[in-house]
Amino acid sequence: MCGIVGFTGRQNAAPILLDGLKKLEYRGYDSAGIAVMDDNGITVQKVKGRIANLCEKTKDGEAVPGFTGIGHTRWATHGAPTEENAHPHLSNDGRFAVVHNGIIENYSTLREELLADGYHFESETDTEVIVHLLEMYYNGSIREALIRTANRLSGSYALGVISSEEPGKIYAVREASPLILGVGIGENYFASDVTALVNHTRNVIYLEDGEFAELSESSIKIFDVLGQEVSKKPTRVLWDVQAAEKGGFEHFMLKEIMEQPGAVKATIAPRIRDGKVVFEELQGILPYLADIRKIIITACGSAYYAGCAGRYALERLTRIPVEVELASELRYSEPLIDDTTLVIVISQSGETADTIAALKECKTRGARTLAIVNVVGSTVAKLADYTIYTWAGPEIAVATTKGYTTQITVLYMLSVYFSDHLWRLTVPEETLTDMLMELPRRIQQAIDMNPTIPALAKKYHDHKALFFIGRNTDYATALEGALKMKEISYLHAEAYAAGELKHGTIALIEEHQPVIALCCNPSIMEKTLSNIVEVKSRGAEVLALTFRNNQKILSTADDLLFIPDVDALFSAVIEIVPLQLLAYYVAKENGCDIDKPKNLAKSVTVE
Ligand code: G6P
Repeated sequence: MCGIVGFTGRQNAAPILLDGLKKLEYRGYDSAGIAVMDDNGITVQKVKGRIANLCEKTKDGEAVPGFTGIGHTRWATHGAPTEENAHPHLSNDGRFAVVHNGIIENYSTLREELLADGYHFESETDTEVIVHLLEMYYNGSIREALIRTANRLSGSYALGVISSEEPGKIYAVREASPLILGVGIGENYFASDVTALVNHTRNVIYLEDGEFAELSESSIKIFDVLGQEVSKKPTRVLWDVQAAEKGGFEHFMLKEIMEQPGAVKATIAPRIRDGKVVFEELQGILPYLADIRKIIITACGSAYYAGCAGRYALERLTRIPVEVELASELRYSEPLIDDTTLVIVISQSGETADTIAALKECKTRGARTLAIVNVVGSTVAKLADYTIYTWAGPEIAVATTKGYTTQITVLYMLSVYFSDHLWRLTVPEETLTDMLMELPRRIQQAIDMNPTIPALAKKYHDHKALFFIGRNTDYATALEGALKMKEISYLHAEAYAAGELKHGTIALIEEHQPVIALCCNPSIMEKTLSNIVEVKSRGAEVLALTFRNNQKILSTADDLLFIPDVDALFSAVIEIVPLQLLAYYVAKENGCDIDKPKNLAKSVTVE
């Protein structure tokens, strides 16, 4: 996690670094710092807490002069979130400063070695070994020192380095953590994410693992692991700068919830032609589609739950068995995979460490791999054999919303596409594509038909725990609904397959215990209704999510959330929307920091 930025040019670096850090704050926000260089050497300013504190301490950067600098916003891994542990870290001789995103796995051995050589440490971080190694290996060439230092490091790192030995230069090094160079005119940048660059330039270069870059105001040189110069052309970032701003909403999360009709439409519309789903990016898969015996979907967090929700349509339409596995489990499970397995990897950021590792593991075992990713050019997108982009636009709130719904949407479309090419469709494809094209409008209806959510949030916000129940796709959505709730409101929220209630959870039901029951699948509605009656007869208060005309549920539940009429095959993408809003308003009632929930980071680039 953590976010890093770097700037070199002919204007004061500090305000630019602070602006970039604000855009990266979703990656970590327990402490922050900048290091800026001028003729007098390197000045470091660090704070505990948010970037706002750093802005205050540095008078919005005005108090730190110099045209070259690096910055960091931290999500603590090694060492508490204190000022000492905040980056940048300085070498003992004060000539080098380093910022780091990632984890140095062999840091304790290196630390012992450096201590024995007389270096002293100011922090408890894994990162600090890097700056001392640089000092130790520096022999007149920073490039050389960087290569030798990188050779000693195991783990993941995106590094930013400045040195008073080379004024006006910033160095960026990438190994298994995202790093993007911004190509300006008379100035150049690097950052962990394009959102920190687009206010300044849309021309970017994605560094690959093992590459490092030397940037001055007028040049960018890129080298491979051996120090050989490589040539790379910039690509242009197309999305709208406004998309990364709050646009009048109180929180990014609310804005992103409201953007879902548009995001789902952008994901679907270009891929439906003449009543058929068309994935030009998947042409290469078609010749061996009939050989696929098993599909494994793997991911982390909400992306995993998107897999759980999309799995039903995929299995039902393709008739291929589908398993959904957590990436952190799959990577160590010695999975039974070969070239008859299609592995679908889902990741909003494309940088989640466990997801990348699972993808690599599956590739090694011969699987064909397909990624569903939101961030163009990200690691997952580059590693997979095939990539489908969810066109959700930048997602800033830590808790994903439009990232999640666009992932499910792609799984729905894949189900139709594969089924068609396997000749397994039992209804005309146009009927299904019409249903897909309707989804954006249905999502908007799910937003519009629930004006009572803020009031319900007032009723339910101060309970100790919330239980979510459902069956089938309702259960998959319950899992994501409960995750949203706990992530941002800090309420204990758990989802249970409704049929499992009697095997334990029902013991927790007591007077006034809220139970959120998802009843959006007509074929099993009666079964969930029985579970509602069971918990109600033990004193629970039931908030049911269902269709407006569902009389039985309407007359049984205490409170209601609605979804518009939609076939259960594609309902999960609609059902989640009222639950996202409920989590949002409960978190607001509880006074939580909704866009940056405590202890969480958006992009989990460490294991
Ligand atoms: C973090 C985020 C979640 C996300 C998960 C997987 O936990 O807070 O919102 O679902 O990582 O991230 P990915 O980028 O791989 O989808």
